Amino acid sequence: MKKNAALAVLATAAGLLFSQGGAAREASSSSTDCATHDGWDLACLRQIYVRPIAGWPRPHVPAGVTPQEMAPVSAIPVALVAPAVAALGQRLFNDPRLSRSNAVACISCHSPAHSFADSKRVSVGHAGRLGQRNTPGLLGVAQITPLFWDGRASTLEEQALGPLQHPDEMAMDAAALPAKLVALDDYPAQFDAAFGKKDGVTLARILTALADYQRTLLPPVTRFDTFLEGQRTALNDRELLGLHLFRTKARCMTCHSGALLTDQQFHNLGLSNYGSRKYEDLGRYLATGKNEDVGKFRTPGLRGVAASGPWMHNGAFAQMVGMLNMYNAGMSRPVPHNAQQAADPKFPVTSPLLQPLQLTSDEIIALKSFLEAL
Ligand code: HEC
Ligand code: HEC
Repeated sequence: MKKNAALAVLATAAGLLFSQGGAAREASSSSTDCATHDGWDLACLRQIYVRPIAGWPRPHVPAGVTPQEMAPVSAIPVALVAPAVAALGQRLFNDPRLSRSNAVACISCHSPAHSFADSKRVSVGHAGRLGQRNTPGLLGVAQITPLFWDGRASTLEEQALGPLQHPDEMAMDAAALPAKLVALDDYPAQFDAAFGKKDGVTLARILTALADYQRTLLPPVTRFDTFLEGQRTALNDRELLGLHLFRTKARCMTCHSGALLTDQQFHNLGLSNYGSRKYEDLGRYLATGKNEDVGKFRTPGLRGVAASGPWMHNGAFAQMVGMLNMYNAGMSRPVPHNAQQAADPKFPVTSPLLQPLQLTSDEIIALKSFLEAL
């Protein structure tokens, strides 16, 4: 009996290590109140989540992490762009003639049907060449900075030059692009109409139009938004449990928070394929040159995520459940195999923010249902 009491104290202390003081402590106890010996009391969860968002269980996150609260799409600022410029940008985004082969458009990889990503493990560009990385979705991209999985571009204007010129993507000589467009259809007239008559078709204007169009790409309003905005019947029981787990036991809000469900920070999830000549990706290190950034990638937003698989920077997971099983295990934590690796300053270190989660298979299915509702 005494021993059990001591163990309980230890367990509570361990729990507190990962909460943020008083308020979080209370919230986490009220949230676990709905757990039963063989699952969850859904009616109890409903009662908790019928409250205003400020009264929901606080996110379970490690000490020192302060996640933004979840918010509906309506909370995302609408970009102030000239409609004529955005319309020109949309036309350019969809036009394969921006590529050298006239066969690859931005939309070839960033398809609206896939949350502006594609359904391939890694992207397929010029002459069928495979890229190194998975295509990220672009929903809400106006809010994201810096851009790319490794954060190497700071603006959408700067970013667009990347795919236009990349030999594996559109392989276009950017300097030659304005002259190419001048000769196509009514492009010159549309540039004049969008920007005024003075300078005609320039590379800077092409990049501005592409960027401004992308700034208009907001996530579609889903049942998750309806739920957040007050209609608490908009999510079914399984999705509601998924939401609760995402906030609490599964600790997802440590990194996936705010309206787009990203902290916009870089983390190492143990997926950088250390030592593989073909697949190793140093991630954020490639942009900063700092050893501590090896294998870190920017947390992607999760809006529309069900349509953008395979997932992760390298498309490592084609199945949502497989990916969630890895999170449940605390992801992988590569260990050095020999003295040389142990001494390597570029040996990747998996984020200490990840830990095994002890989710049951029913809970994994609930999390999956929640992700599908985003
Ligand atoms: C061949 C496929 C392909 C084409 C074509 C392509 N992209 Fe991409 N796009 C990608 C991949 C892959 C990445 C991620 C690359 C990385 O992080 O290194 C990416 C990243 C991006 C990002 C950064 C998103 C983020 O969350 O960081 C933006 C913005 C973007 N592309 C816009 C465009 C535009 C605009 C065009 C057309 C000019 C375009 N892409 C053409 C595959 C493509
Ligand atoms: C330590 C921060 C962190 C935590 C905690 C975390 N994630 Fe992630 N998540 C990331 C990062 C970083 C990536 C991209 C990693 C990569 O590509 O190497 C990612 C990728 C994803 C993706 C793939 C998205 C895409 O477009 O490819 C999904 C889905 C996802 N996380 C869901 C979750 C869920 C569900 C949880 C809770 C069980 C969770 N994450 C917990 C940081 C985190």
